[in-house]
Amino acid sequence: MHLTFVGSGQVGGALAARLSSLGHEVTLAARDPRSESVLAAQRREPRLRALDPHAAVAAAEVVFLATPYAAAEAAARGLAAALTGKVLVDCTNPVGPGLTHGLASARSGSEVLQSAAPSARVVKAFTIYGFENFEDSLYPGYGGLKPAMLIAGDDPAAKLTVGTLCTELGWEPVDAGPLASSLHLEHLTLLWIKMARLQGQGAGFVWARLRRALRKGEA
Ligand SMILES: NC(=O)c1ccc[n+]([C@@H]2O[C@H](COP(=O)([O-])OP(=O)(O)OC[C@H]3O[C@@H](n4cnc5c(N)ncnc54)[C@H](OP(=O)(O)O)[C@@H]3O)[C@@H](O)[C@H]2O)c1
Repeated sequence: MHLTFVGSGQVGGALAARLSSLGHEVTLAARDPRSESVLAAQRREPRLRALDPHAAVAAAEVVFLATPYAAAEAAARGLAAALTGKVLVDCTNPVGPGLTHGLASARSGSEVLQSAAPSARVVKAFTIYGFENFEDSLYPGYGGLKPAMLIAGDDPAAKLTVGTLCTELGWEPVDAGPLASSLHLEHLTLLWIKMARLQGQGAGFVWARLRRALRKGEA
């Protein structure tokens, strides 16, 4: 697939490199092709070409938005025309002071981005863990159990596309529901950050989904 990244830092750079190594045609939608994050991503994966953001988005089927949240809304609005019909993977997290929700839990960041680029098909994904898990999603020793990547969005086909990319990257995509469920994912992210980074559990853990057949009387 043709993929592009708006933001190629810890999250964007890791995902871009891995998706390129899986055989996707990946570009960096770079406002400054000489910026340190672009150059670092290219050192990691020399096949990552930096393009003008509008050209990169226009040529892509899937666009990853991985800027700081404070820059995301303006970036989405500025690219809104080019994003028409594109799958927009929202990797951003609105984080407020003291690891609170950056929009006071009133609305998810993903819905704000959907409003900024109304013709994009927004899917929240690759947010609920630290970037270390996007660099390396391997959790050996659990048999066929894969780490879970919770995703949310209103467009079923877009979620299928993002789910396929999750699977290729070693995750079990778990559909958490409509885009409004992104608010819950953003809170789940805050929980992960507190556990991993504040409480000292470290970045090497993720969630997984265990399932069983419904028992009689269970809905
Ligand atoms: N770090 C994590 O563990 C983690 C995990 C999950 C989700 N997230 C979320 O992912 C997002 C990115 O985090 P990160 O840690 O990857 O950040 P980062 O390492 O600081 O990288 C940010 C990237 O965004 C670009 N950028 C900054 N302002 C921009 C603008 N106005 N327009 C276009 N591009 C801009 C930067 O480009 P320049 O180099 O040119 O400034 C850089 O490539 C955040 O929303 C964060 O909450 C982070």
